[in-house]
Amino acid sequence: MLFKTATNYAAALALVSAVLTPNAHAGSALASTSLTRRATVCNGHAELCDRSFGNITFVGTHNSYAIGVNNFFANQDQSVTQQLNDGVRMLQMQAHNENGVIRLCHSRCSFLDGGSLEDYLRTVKTWLDANPNEVLSLLVVNIDNVPASNYDAVFKSVGLDSISYSPPSSPIAASEWPTLGTLIDSGKRLLTFLDNAADLTAVPYLLDEFTNIWETQFNVLDIANFDCSVNRTRGDTSTQMFLINHFLDKLVLGQPAPFIERLNQTNAATGAGSLGAHVDTCVADHGRPPNFLLVDFYEFGGGSVFQVAADMNGVPYNPATPVATPVSTPTATNTGSGSTVSVTSSSLSGGTSVTFQLFNAQYLTAFMISTVAILLGSLIVL
Ligand SMILES: *[C@@H]1O[C@H](CO)[C@@H](O)[C@H](O)[C@H]1NC(C)=O
Ligand SMILES: *[C@@H]1O[C@H](CO)[C@@H](O)[C@H](O)[C@H]1NC(C)=O
Ligand SMILES: *[C@@H]1O[C@H](CO)[C@@H](O)[C@H](O)[C@H]1NC(C)=O
Repeated sequence: MLFKTATNYAAALALVSAVLTPNAHAGSALASTSLTRRATVCNGHAELCDRSFGNITFVGTHNSYAIGVNNFFANQDQSVTQQLNDGVRMLQMQAHNENGVIRLCHSRCSFLDGGSLEDYLRTVKTWLDANPNEVLSLLVVNIDNVPASNYDAVFKSVGLDSISYSPPSSPIAASEWPTLGTLIDSGKRLLTFLDNAADLTAVPYLLDEFTNIWETQFNVLDIANFDCSVNRTRGDTSTQMFLINHFLDKLVLGQPAPFIERLNQTNAATGAGSLGAHVDTCVADHGRPPNFLLVDFYEFGGGSVFQVAADMNGVPYNPATPVATPVSTPTATNTGSGSTVSVTSSSLSGGTSVTFQLFNAQYLTAFMISTVAILLGSLIVL
């Protein structure tokens, strides 16, 4: 057998091509282009294969691991696999050093523990293996300044290092990123950004966030305040990719928590305070749409967040199956069997009166822990 294994397939193609292409030697660059190019659909659309990674709008999930229902440390209520199946292509996470193990927790691991980074990345790896024509980004808030080499060990144990993209240099201007087709064809379809402690010399595929991406503000408490001003960067905002934080909070005992009652409006494609309107503001301000749209409970709106991204990308949004149905319920309108506790925290949050529905032990625990946290000082980190 001349070509026994799949790994010889490319060599076989090269040989066939050399025979069939008249100027194979003179035009080797051309020949290799046509050979290495395999993906015809990239992230669901043929039109995206030739587009630079930095020229595409992706939907991202804020605290993608912080999954829960009626727990005010939760920012999502669908599994990571469901998020990916529905079209999320950036997973944001907050990483903590817990006795030498990297865990994904919201604020503190005693508040909401989303499990180890290793388990999380295994889920991501399984999904990427099953979806070979998809490019995915991870955004890690490295809150405890864990060295890049510690992340490298976890990526290696899961096997994600070998499908991670390592640029020749960094930072990279939005227009200079490889195309989705190139990333997919080269098998390097995972792009990971760390908000600090990136070190390309030590770990070439863990990219520095803020020299490559700027962000809008993230602590928005008034739906009228979503804007497209630069909030955080360490680079040249005229050429960087950018990310909008489009999630609305309300104060619960003086601490920000997702404003679930407003999610349909916040995640909508149109209307005041909507994701669509926020993106339009960015286009007006900066002449291009954001690269990443970070949202809470992405499925509220019935796919509207993906519609916004598709509109920006100039592709249709026709999901094969409808997005997941929301699990979280607005406390204000829920009439479930939980008991209701009214708390007036005049000294803590400027006289705001908050009503809680206590549905389960988890929510009650979060409520009590958060109360303690407020007494101990402001420990909540978004
Ligand atoms: C991608 O490039 C096109 C053409 O220049 C532009 O209209 C579009 O706004 C760009 N999108 C992003 C996300 O940069
Ligand atoms: C960035 O946003 C944070 C949170 O909303 C805010 O506290 C801070 O003042 C902002 N910084 C700048 C430079 O806009
Ligand atoms: C959001 O919209 C869905 C679908 O229209 C609806 O079932 C749900 O009650 C709405 N939630 C809120 C908080 O308005």
